[in-house]
Amino acid sequence: MIKKEIPFVVEIYASSEALNIADAALLASARATISSAYAPYSNFKVGASARLIDGNIVTGTNQENASYPVGICAERVLLSAVASQFKGAGITSMAISYDNLNGKSNHPISPCGICRQSLVEYEDRTHQPMRIILSGLQGEVYIIEKAQQLLPLIFSLMDMK
Ligand code: THU
Repeated sequence: MIKKEIPFVVEIYASSEALNIADAALLASARATISSAYAPYSNFKVGASARLIDGNIVTGTNQENASYPVGICAERVLLSAVASQFKGAGITSMAISYDNLNGKSNHPISPCGICRQSLVEYEDRTHQPMRIILSGLQGEVYIIEKAQQLLPLIFSLMDMK
């Protein structure tokens, strides 16, 4: 038996003011799009913004439904929009932010497991590492160099071959 450690590296910034201009702008875009979320059931609004390889910025928000499982997270709304409108385009960075029940979100959001699976597959299929920028409306910002880090030992197309 051997034990193998799988590294997970996260950069931690005190606030968005410590980011470079491009990352700060993408996070500002994610924060700004939160108001488009449709979350009357959870009142937890999420905004995501992607910078594509060609510089285009695309946004997405969570969209809930009276039939709860029908709801979709902001990250997957965004990935679907990019895949549909910019076929095959790599995403270089995605910023994700949220507004919680008290309206003062101040710690980085953590994407759900289904979204992690989707993010990694998008990264794989476009052969473009996707930096993930996580934050609330204020406070610390986490940056992860590629989505794949979010889900070690992922089940992927490779496993089916
Ligand atoms: N949600 C997202 O949109 N992204 C995440 O990373 C976490 C959760 C949404 C799903 C649901 O509409 C609400 O937040 C509460 O779970």
